[in-house]
Amino acid sequence: MDIHLERGEGGWGSLVERLWLFGFVAEKFPTGMTIIHESCELARRGKEQPTWRVFSLKELHSATNNFNYDNKLGEGSFGSVYWGQLWDGSQIAVKRLKVWSNRAETEFTVELEILARIRHKNLLSLRGYCAEGQERLIVYEYMQNLSLHSHLHGHHSFECPLDWNRRMNIAIGSAEGIVYLHHQATPHIIHRDIKASNVLLDSDFQARVADFGFAMLIPDGTTHVPTKGKGTLGYLAPEYAMMGKPNESCDVYSFGVLLLELASGRRPTEKLSSTVTQSIVDWALPLVCEKKFSEIADPRLNGIYVEGELKRVVLVALMCVQDLPEKRPTMLDVVELLKGESKDKFSHIENSEMFRSPLTEEINNGTSVVEDRLDYISEEKELERPLKENAEL
Ligand SMILES: Nc1ncnc2c1ncn2[C@@H]1O[C@H](COP(=O)(O)OP(=O)(O)OP(=O)(O)O)[C@@H](O)[C@H]1O
Ligand SMILES: [Mg+2]
Repeated sequence: MDIHLERGEGGWGSLVERLWLFGFVAEKFPTGMTIIHESCELARRGKEQPTWRVFSLKELHSATNNFNYDNKLGEGSFGSVYWGQLWDGSQIAVKRLKVWSNRAETEFTVELEILARIRHKNLLSLRGYCAEGQERLIVYEYMQNLSLHSHLHGHHSFECPLDWNRRMNIAIGSAEGIVYLHHQATPHIIHRDIKASNVLLDSDFQARVADFGFAMLIPDGTTHVPTKGKGTLGYLAPEYAMMGKPNESCDVYSFGVLLLELASGRRPTEKLSSTVTQSIVDWALPLVCEKKFSEIADPRLNGIYVEGELKRVVLVALMCVQDLPEKRPTMLDVVELLKGESKDKFSHIENSEMFRSPLTEEINNGTSVVEDRLDYISEEKELERPLKENAEL
């Protein structure tokens, strides 16, 4: 048996209490957060991967050529991200927070404490941070193939379109990363901003889910936590947009939108005219009801895809984006379904009411589903939450 208490360095150089107990380590941070790891696992990871560290501003200035515009990878809601190279030749991505405020400090600290300790093959690892004067910077591993967004909608989308095999791997890999956040991390983590620019691709095109700045920690047994209402238009679950209360099923909804995007190459919302916007869900559902899966497939695939897998991805996506959160699958179910491991569950989905023709007729005859959803999009705009269109190239 292994029980002892120690005090060591933690995030922001603060003291962390560590309780070693029965092969587990409970780390208690000054912010009140407690994270439990398996100690042998921690030791193993410590040997394999560089742990995070504090970077000096000078080092990051020199790595990014003084945050040169040419090094800029993109800009998000919290600031710009720059490519950089350290003295040892390793490549990094540096997120430079644009506004310094107490609110940003909280987000920054939360993101650091979570990211620094979470290691999973499908989650983006943190390499460190810098906090000097007014500057707050986060240093990540650099992902050579940038984001899924850049491959679906940006300049990579025509140069080097993703083939079907890569898309399937990205779907399953990113789902596994989210399963880890929802079901394996302690405490559980809700991502709250799952979208194509937050799914990064490493040199092998393996998915790495990024950005836990939005994540809130859920104590076990709690289903809802308060929120400030974040997220990106087109990916938001209806109940989250209306009530601002996130839970795991809000992530499931966003992931469903992401799956449709991955299969079709369409954006989460498309403008049909200057006043009408159609969501990808409202576009895909009628096609599925008419069994026109080939019309959903991204034209850039040139018809080269596995029909059964495409159907699986699209049907699972539509299960995820149901309006009623209790009807959505969990991310564990999603992984099982995407991998084709549960034939029974899948045939149940195939025969689901929502894919039957009456719904198609209802849509063709006029209004309901599509118009309801469009109403809901305009309601979202009225909420004046910090929603944003995806601004990436
Ligand atoms: N580690 C990284 N490697 C490569 N590209 C990255 C990395 N981190 C971020 N990027 C890219 O930099 C850009 C800006 O990222 P950032 O996270 O700031 O914004 P975002 O994801 O578009 O929006 P949000 O702020 O809502 O997360 C995005 O295009 C993102 O894909
Ligand atoms: Mg991001």
